[in-house]
Amino acid sequence: MQLLGMDQQSFGDALRLGLRTAARRVRQRASLLLAVTIGGGAVALMGGLSPWMIVLGAALALVLAALVSLEGEDAGAAERASSRAQRSAAAEMAGRWRAALDAVPDPVIVLNHGGAIVHINPAAREIYALLRPGGQPSLLSRDPIFLQAIDEVLDDGRQQSVEIQERIPFDRRVRITLTAVPETSADEDGPRVVIALRDLTDQDRLGRMRADFVANASHELRTPLASLVGFIETLQGRASDDPVARARFLGIMGQQAARMSRLVDDLLSLSRVEMREHVPPRTAIDLNDTVAAAVQALEPVARAAGATLKFSPCDGPAVVLGETDEIVQVVQNLVQNGLKYGAPGSPVAVTVRREARGPTSRIAVAVRDEGPGIPPEHLPRLTERFYRVNPKSSREKGGTGLGLAIVKHIINRHRGEFRIESELGKGSTFTFVIDEQARRPSAAL
Ligand SMILES: Nc1ncnc2c1ncn2[C@@H]1O[C@H](COP(=O)(O)OP(=O)(O)O)[C@@H](O)[C@H]1O
Ligand SMILES: [Mg+2]
Repeated sequence: MQLLGMDQQSFGDALRLGLRTAARRVRQRASLLLAVTIGGGAVALMGGLSPWMIVLGAALALVLAALVSLEGEDAGAAERASSRAQRSAAAEMAGRWRAALDAVPDPVIVLNHGGAIVHINPAAREIYALLRPGGQPSLLSRDPIFLQAIDEVLDDGRQQSVEIQERIPFDRRVRITLTAVPETSADEDGPRVVIALRDLTDQDRLGRMRADFVANASHELRTPLASLVGFIETLQGRASDDPVARARFLGIMGQQAARMSRLVDDLLSLSRVEMREHVPPRTAIDLNDTVAAAVQALEPVARAAGATLKFSPCDGPAVVLGETDEIVQVVQNLVQNGLKYGAPGSPVAVTVRREARGPTSRIAVAVRDEGPGIPPEHLPRLTERFYRVNPKSSREKGGTGLGLAIVKHIINRHRGEFRIESELGKGSTFTFVIDEQARRPSAAL
């Protein structure tokens, strides 16, 4: 039951406190009233009034005073209890909004009416370790644009959005949105401004990567194109009557055109596989068969390079969910690299094997060469577009610098893992691993 906005228990407490205080006051005033009564009695006796009447009047006055005092105390206690209840409700509210902001994954900071920090959520605490409740937001940034935005939002309550460049602890661009909270209470420490921070560094890096990619692709295309244009001019000019020079130039022009065409093919492959990366393949294929076919198709290339290809399938079917064309592309890219960058005439081995992993198993396909190997500092960057250990040698060997980037995206699409291991002087092993499909009779091909 609710009484004066309080529950029964608080009302009972308030009443008990009121009665105790009233009794104390009555006790304090009783001696005064006694003196008044005696004095009054004497005066009355002298003036002819009955002393009993005076005593009765004084007693009535005493009871009246007690009642008035009780009522006043009652109201005071109720007021105090109600403000206590209000304070606990406000604390509960504060606990709730703080918990809600703590669940936000982006950094959020809250200021009070005076512009001091009243809350820092965990995401903000992680980045801005110096911030403390009660502190000033200038510890977050001293950028005048930010400080002015705080003043303005405190002033007129209009949302502000600013971008600041930070140098410490590392270079990053941050967008800060300052939003005023509608006034719900007069509490000085209540939330007044919510500061939400968004790190734009990743977005910037992606933008830069895109711009770099376009610049690299254009550069790769422009080099053979410039050479083609040069030879055309030469053929139209001084070489027009020289059949030997013409034949030689046409040969080079053919190579340059082929290089451009490989580059365009690889660019298209990359964009196609990137577009499909979020949709994993759903067809069950046997990697023993797919890899064998891919290796077989490269036999003539290996023979021309004086190298041998060794293929070892795994025991039993090696069924995974995969896209045959893409797996063939992966194997061919890796085997071609092994033939190109391995020791001349040395073997390239392709192995399919089963890797147990707890109750499930995965199928691993490894392509190993016996070449000079790759210095370890290059390994993490090999799958970046256009990254080459030796750009000149790659170009001379007909490489586009996109092969391993395509491989990585295809393996990502298959939700697989791609590993590169290399030992200088011994050779390199490129391995991709894909979950094996549970062996059901219907899944077998
Ligand atoms: N088997 C290998 N042995 C040594 N280096 C390799 C091997 N495979 C790839 N690389 C290095 O990785 C680079 C990137 O390979 P890739 O993306 O296939 O591009 P490309 O072959 O067109 O140059 C190559 O330029 C080469 O420097
Ligand atoms: Mg390659």
